[in-house]
Amino acid sequence: MIIAIDGPAGAGKSTVCKMLAKRLGFAYLDTGAMYRAVAWALETAPSHRSLSQTDLEDQKAGELLERLPLRFVIERGRLEIFWAQKSLSEELRGPQVTEAASRLSRLPAIRQFLVARQRELASQGPDFVAEGRDTTTVVFPEAELKVFLTADLKTRAKRRCEEYRAKGVELPLEKVEEMLAQRDHADSMRDHSPMRRAENAFLLDTSGLCVEEVVERLAQKARNLSPALSDGP
Ligand code: DC
Repeated sequence: MIIAIDGPAGAGKSTVCKMLAKRLGFAYLDTGAMYRAVAWALETAPSHRSLSQTDLEDQKAGELLERLPLRFVIERGRLEIFWAQKSLSEELRGPQVTEAASRLSRLPAIRQFLVARQRELASQGPDFVAEGRDTTTVVFPEAELKVFLTADLKTRAKRRCEEYRAKGVELPLEKVEEMLAQRDHADSMRDHSPMRRAENAFLLDTSGLCVEEVVERLAQKARNLSPALSDGP
């Protein structure tokens, strides 16, 4: 079974998807991390920093991306990303990479490259929770359960501020609201695979809900589709 979950930044996707995957015994595929990895590789990795936006808009961009020493693998039910032998994780979470991922994700060559990798990973099966911006519309339109997870801007900004605070970064709420609004705009207005709710996706507004409630509702929906599913920890 594939459960595909899209929605704007700060809606709670990552927390919900991780918990839901654990609960059902599914693997968890964070497609946003893949966009972040490409952005990190193109803008930070020393050997590739010289690539310009024009190079990436060129028809040969696909070949160029294939040559990057980036590897995506599912290990112990989670996506692991390697740059040569180095495992990438925290370096993908900084504000610069966040901005670059949103900016570069509008380029068709990058999208095609990553959508192919995402489908390859899912073909290893058996069961996945995938999250992103286009998993319900483009990557896995045939997913058994499709969800658009959202929340109002204030709620999302508050959640992000708390996440930053937990990492020792203090940012004013208004600033975080502005950053999220900009990202929503860029992610939903781009020409290729913009973020939008798929027609048959279940819309869930998490504004007044705690994470456990959201996970429970989605687990219940999955169990309705497949009663044999486990109800793990
Ligand atoms: O979910 P995230 O914040 O880690 O995603 C980072 C950026 O990657 C986001 O601003 C838009 C892009 N993205 C995308 O275009 N398509 C996806 N399926 C996932 C992420």
